[in-house]
Amino acid sequence: MSELDSLYREVILDHYKNPRGHGVISEPDAQAEGQNPLCGDEVSIAVEFEGDTIADVRFQGRGCAISQAATSMLMDMVKGRTAQEVATMSRDELLEEVGIPLTPVRLKCALLGLGVLKVALHKGKGTPLPEEWGALDELELK
Ligand code: FES
Repeated sequence: MSELDSLYREVILDHYKNPRGHGVISEPDAQAEGQNPLCGDEVSIAVEFEGDTIADVRFQGRGCAISQAATSMLMDMVKGRTAQEVATMSRDELLEEVGIPLTPVRLKCALLGLGVLKVALHKGKGTPLPEEWGALDELELK
């Protein structure tokens, strides 16, 4: 493993152990949840808006280090951005943050939180869902 890979792995473990934006919002403007049916791992996300801006965003979940760490990273990335910006955010933007190469199975883990967030924004602000879900297709989002 390269030094860079082990650095990314340390960052992932840190997010897993000390998740950012973990918790609930008492009266959220929108929320959604999803699970990876292959393993049963779950993520739920609640959003509070100020106008179109994501003023607060929190998640709860259980599952593997990648699904929980990637969702934690996502919370940091999207706070303060508009619903529209995040609705069109590419999966690669998140995957770059995760930083390590992922197998197809692990890719679903990493994208679980992003899929759930996009559904929450769709419910709250009517933003479009991506037509091409790719690895998200098999996740159960609602
Ligand atoms: Fe279930 Fe990763 S093993 S989301």
